[in-house]
Amino acid sequence: MNDLKNKKSLVIYFSHNGENYMADGIRNIDKGNTEIIAEYIKDIIGADLFKVESEKEYPYNYRECCNVARDELKNGARPKLKEELKSVDNYDVIYIGYPIWYGTMPMPLFTQLEKLDFNGKIIRPFATHEGSGIANSQRDIKNICKGAIVLDGIAIRGSNVYNAKEEIENWL
Ligand SMILES: Cc1cc2nc3c(=O)[nH]c(=O)nc-3n(C[C@H](O)[C@H](O)[C@H](O)COP(=O)(O)O)c2cc1C
Repeated sequence: MNDLKNKKSLVIYFSHNGENYMADGIRNIDKGNTEIIAEYIKDIIGADLFKVESEKEYPYNYRECCNVARDELKNGARPKLKEELKSVDNYDVIYIGYPIWYGTMPMPLFTQLEKLDFNGKIIRPFATHEGSGIANSQRDIKNICKGAIVLDGIAIRGSNVYNAKEEIENWL
């Protein structure tokens, strides 16, 4: 596993900009926290990036976004995506990144991951959060991505992403 960072790598991630809950209250962020981490991984190991986006955009307003996200989780929604990744066949290691929303990944990632064949792949989850850590997301990834080796992921505080490059480098 020592040379993981030299293997052909893809980052599949979801990230939401707009209003978000940070350590110092609700703030507007122009670029999502998870996207910052995804870009570090690209910079450090040259991974390709694929951003998962729901066809219907999530509300800019934090409270409204929370309501939509909570309903989607409760209903087991699988939101339609703007674009679907068809295959991960060309990659050895897949990094899966997301904000924690109510204890797990946002539902668009469920839509995407359920459509892919991860057999024989190595998966490394990374989450950004404001206190929950990686929560249930790693368990959910293991359930969806059958046949993959899911390594222990990393959880980074959303309000700390701009100071986290070194931590990501060490993790990689
Ligand atoms: C709808 C919603 C639900 C959230 N639920 C949680 C949660 O359950 N636990 C937690 O620690 N943080 C939660 N957060 C905070 C985000 O996980 C955190 O701000 C993250 O860094 C956002 O990443 P992003 O900018 O890439 O979307 C939530 C944020 C939103 C908008």
